[in-house]
Amino acid sequence: MSQPGSFSLDGRVAFISGGGGAIGSALAAGLAGAGARIAIGEISQERADAAAEGVRALGADVLAVAADVTDPAEAERIVAETVARFGRLDIIVNAVGGGAGRVIFPAEEYPLKDWDWIFDLNLRSTLVATQAAVKAMIAGGRGGRVVNISSVRANLGINSGYSAYVAAKGAISSLTRQWATEWARHGITVNAIAPTFVDTPQVAMLLGDPAFKAGVVARIPLGRVGETADLVGPVLFFCSDASSFVTGQILGVDGGLTATQ
Ligand SMILES: NC(=O)c1ccc[n+]([C@@H]2O[C@H](COP(=O)([O-])OP(=O)(O)OC[C@H]3O[C@@H](n4cnc5c(N)ncnc54)[C@H](O)[C@@H]3O)[C@@H](O)[C@H]2O)c1
Repeated sequence: MSQPGSFSLDGRVAFISGGGGAIGSALAAGLAGAGARIAIGEISQERADAAAEGVRALGADVLAVAADVTDPAEAERIVAETVARFGRLDIIVNAVGGGAGRVIFPAEEYPLKDWDWIFDLNLRSTLVATQAAVKAMIAGGRGGRVVNISSVRANLGINSGYSAYVAAKGAISSLTRQWATEWARHGITVNAIAPTFVDTPQVAMLLGDPAFKAGVVARIPLGRVGETADLVGPVLFFCSDASSFVTGQILGVDGGLTATQ
């Protein structure tokens, strides 16, 4: 049992959905560093194995499952394998998503197939993985933690064709508040982080344009884009006893960007 207010995750088990991604793998390593045992659910076997290797190198116990978390049967399989291996599930971090830069269209012509792709990648993945995880948390009777990844774009329009992404992230923020109210009775808190640009392969092409990057950085008071390491502390806070009385919150991790709006 950890001290009240502790950031320790000793004894806890965390399912990192999309744990092979740039942000997911950094969060898997960060939570492992705080003492959690880690289950990586990830559609790419190669990425799952690479992220697991990184966690193992920290001396932590890790399970890697290659699965598509938009498929309920697959999400249930990750959770079942996690509980079989570790005996419990305490935390889910939803780190599947993105795609914004790959499907930019004028709002009045936004193609429905791309709209559906962005919604499946961001919203359905979060919904389906969380449903599977929360059923196990309720059955376990120890409460739990759900952490979603929204975006500053949930609250800020952008004048360049991002309709589907902003709408999907807005839905993730709304769902975060809704789930917080529904699952409080089970001792499960639900929170989200809302980052601005984080230096990852998904946004490398955009940030590779020096004029674009300079424009982004000029709007961020702390004067730089995010690094994956910047997300670890905020997520650890939401996963740990330090945030026991915090639920339904969307925490901007944006160098002050939204404070200027
Ligand atoms: N990178 C940024 O600048 C930024 C900013 C704000 C928010 N975010 C959000 O952070 C999250 C993670 O972004 P990232 O940059 O790490 O992306 P990423 O592509 O590096 O990671 C996502 C991972 O999810 C996996 N995945 C995709 N579909 C899956 C499925 N159906 N089932 C299981 N795994 C699946 C991918 O293989 C990948 O490893 C996204 O929700 C993104 O919108 C990113």
